[in-house]
Amino acid sequence: MVTMIPFNELKLLHTQLEDELGAAVRRVLSSGWYALGPEVEAFENQFASYHGVKYAVGVANGTDAIELALRAAGIGPGDEVITVSHTAVATVCAIEQTGANPVLVDITPETYTMEPEAAEAAVSPRTKALVPVHLYGHPADMTELVSLAERHNLALIEDCAQAHGARWKGQLVGTFGQMGAFSFYPTKNLGACGDGGAIITNNTNLAERLRLLRNYGQTSRYHHAERGINSRLDEIQAAILCVKLRHLEEHNNARRALADHYNRHLEGVTVPVACQEAHHVYHLYVARHHLRDSLMDALKKRGVGALIHYPVPVHLQEAYADLGYRSGSLPFTEQAAREILSLPMYIGLTKGDIEIVVQAIRASLEGIEI
Ligand SMILES: Cc1ncc(COP(=O)(O)O)c(C=O)c1O
Repeated sequence: MVTMIPFNELKLLHTQLEDELGAAVRRVLSSGWYALGPEVEAFENQFASYHGVKYAVGVANGTDAIELALRAAGIGPGDEVITVSHTAVATVCAIEQTGANPVLVDITPETYTMEPEAAEAAVSPRTKALVPVHLYGHPADMTELVSLAERHNLALIEDCAQAHGARWKGQLVGTFGQMGAFSFYPTKNLGACGDGGAIITNNTNLAERLRLLRNYGQTSRYHHAERGINSRLDEIQAAILCVKLRHLEEHNNARRALADHYNRHLEGVTVPVACQEAHHVYHLYVARHHLRDSLMDALKKRGVGALIHYPVPVHLQEAYADLGYRSGSLPFTEQAAREILSLPMYIGLTKGDIEIVVQAIRASLEGIEI
């Protein structure tokens, strides 16, 4: 019989935390207050304090977090915002929601994050912001990107959706730029049981602006100082996030130990690189092989779940054809899209499971490499 190793199994984590999560949810149910209330405030304080920053502002999801951060920084129609094409489409969606134009640049192939020289080459007189993405849990090169943003006077907004707790030279991601934007989509390293997001910042004016923007620009009940949106974080999600935040470091360490086990046992595929300055938190464990599609098919037949993050880069998506890129525009991004595959990585995955995945990869490669 084939042992199935799914790509992800969120239930395992929630079973482990059942008592704590159950108590948190019951507390909110009996409170009579369900959106933007004391639980959200408590989570915001704890999330800010985890990062050693003054403010965290809870919002409805990670896409809104990026959009609102850009809007709070004054980015809007006519402005250009540099980001990567090798990301979840949400990053680009969020930029366009502000009315600004996304400018997509290539990645450093080893880390799959924004290539600082490519970003510098894309700066124009209209460029107003830089949105690096700490993809898969590996920080972008913040030494170079902070310096680039300073030299060109750009707002630096970090997309930390996949990197809660990741560090660059010991410093937590989200604390390098003016603002760090987070998603708490259930699969994230810090995930709610529904949607959620937050922005962190040390800047009082930005925090105040974010609080207005997430709530229709409302200053006092039914008085609106500017046009905002509805992007509330709800109380149940905030209460769940408070519980899970207490376990974030432990969970990230578990992911790192699993990644280490993969790294030591996998053969025949390129394993992910964590550069020296990085504390990688392995939101995804992304390996690489030139016969990726055949390997994925063979793994599927052996009961191993693998996915591709992401098979079509944003600049080659039909929806973004009018941005003017073509095949060949971003070679490292396009090559990655052809060769990467994400292997099972979740809390509750065991070293024994990894050994089964490793065996399945070995057997699959024997079948496809002639
Ligand atoms: C890199 C990245 N940015 C932004 C987002 C958007 O987050 P959300 O799905 O919470 O809107 C995600 C998550 O899907 C993501 O992975």
